[in-house]
Amino acid sequence: METLQKEKYKDYFKGKTYNITTFGCQMNEHDSERISYILEDLGYTYTNEREEADFIIFNTCLVRENAELKLYGQVSSLKRLKREHPEKIISVCGCMMQTTEARQVIIDKHPEVDIVFGTKNINSLGDLIFRYLETEERVIDVSTDDVKDDFEKYNSTNNFQAYVNIMRGCDNYCTYCIVPESRGREESRRPYSIIEEVEYLVSQGFKEFTLLGQNVNSYGNNTDYDFTFPELLARVAKIPGVKRLRFTSSHPKDLSDELIEVMRDNDNICNYFHLPMQSGSNDVLKKMNRHYTIEKYLERANKLKEEIPGIALSTDIIVGFPTETEEDFQKTVEACKKVGFDSAYTFKYSPRPKTVAAKYPTIDDDIVQDRFQRLLDELYPMFNEKNAEYVGKTVEVLLESESKNNPEILTGRTDTFKLVHVKAPKELIGEFVKVKITDHTSFTISGDLVK
Ligand code: 5AD
Ligand code: SF4
Repeated sequence: METLQKEKYKDYFKGKTYNITTFGCQMNEHDSERISYILEDLGYTYTNEREEADFIIFNTCLVRENAELKLYGQVSSLKRLKREHPEKIISVCGCMMQTTEARQVIIDKHPEVDIVFGTKNINSLGDLIFRYLETEERVIDVSTDDVKDDFEKYNSTNNFQAYVNIMRGCDNYCTYCIVPESRGREESRRPYSIIEEVEYLVSQGFKEFTLLGQNVNSYGNNTDYDFTFPELLARVAKIPGVKRLRFTSSHPKDLSDELIEVMRDNDNICNYFHLPMQSGSNDVLKKMNRHYTIEKYLERANKLKEEIPGIALSTDIIVGFPTETEEDFQKTVEACKKVGFDSAYTFKYSPRPKTVAAKYPTIDDDIVQDRFQRLLDELYPMFNEKNAEYVGKTVEVLLESESKNNPEILTGRTDTFKLVHVKAPKELIGEFVKVKITDHTSFTISGDLVK
């Protein structure tokens, strides 16, 4: 069917361009890579200019309300464009479209949107476009027909770093989080399908791999394959050509000694761990349904530091969760100081529909804003100090791209995920180089190429 349609519309796609805007996490970024592959396979080419594109697509996130509001704003701003150019196709997909409420807002208030689909039927995008072209009527389809074991095809941002899905969904039901609602129950992909994909990518020249899942530590739960996450990680690390291996995200309650040992014993697994703490107060952690105490969190973080010297730790923190007192907040600050994070993603609590916490009374905005700022005031000097430790050292960096402000400067990452700025020719993008670090800020380190 699809091949026939492809043939029929071959001329239609000639010279047509697409533009994609991605909100949210790495899972969404990777979904966008899959969407790009499908669009380019049809014949579209990418353009940076949204308003010039023939196919404009938004891949949405609903973890916090501001991402949702931003999406509505950006879609609304295309109303006139669609009126003047009805031949352009506008599409909205992703997590937001997985909830009835957000989908209804698009259906009722955004007639400029032509195609709506979800997170589980990305593989059908080609068919949805053909359906739209055939009927010229809106297409809304959030069915669940992607086979999770499919050997997924995607256009990676570059030809040396790849994201690899190992599972989807989440079974944790943290009380603030809408992900289990939007991405559904946890499903692990077959280990051999993942291994095959990485082997294929290595044969294509890829060097760095990031295994993706909402909670990678529970990989393999409720399946009949006898593979835990540490086992999978060790197996992937052994694939010749895997120069760097990363993974995200991890739930502290499931972080096992076995995983720490696998990281310690495999040099190509990066010395970096993103371990979302969310809060330093046991009362709050309990209300968040996180299933660990702050003592247990600190014990896990210490174990990582002991077993893997030089490891960099990052975290997620929510400020202003309902019922958080000043004392609870202070405990978060104290816990951050005890761990000594290299970086952190900090969020103001945002009530999400249908979550348990949405029923709790919220805290005054001013109080939340004040705590949020005070947290940053504690964290930034901490990051600065961590980065200062790199000055004078020579580190290995995988160069990724030209810096936005100055094309003579390239940016890359250390295995500890430090963002590095270095003057180097752009031919070195995609290569590992040695950089002697001479300077730092709270967010970057910089230095000179070692020849
Ligand atoms: N409000 C604020 N932050 C949230 N996160 C998830 N849900 C919410 C919410 N309702 C944060 C958590 C999570 C990260 C991906 O987003 O810190 O780890
Ligand atoms: Fe959301 Fe918690 Fe699942 Fe992470 S572990 S996706 S915060 S429910």
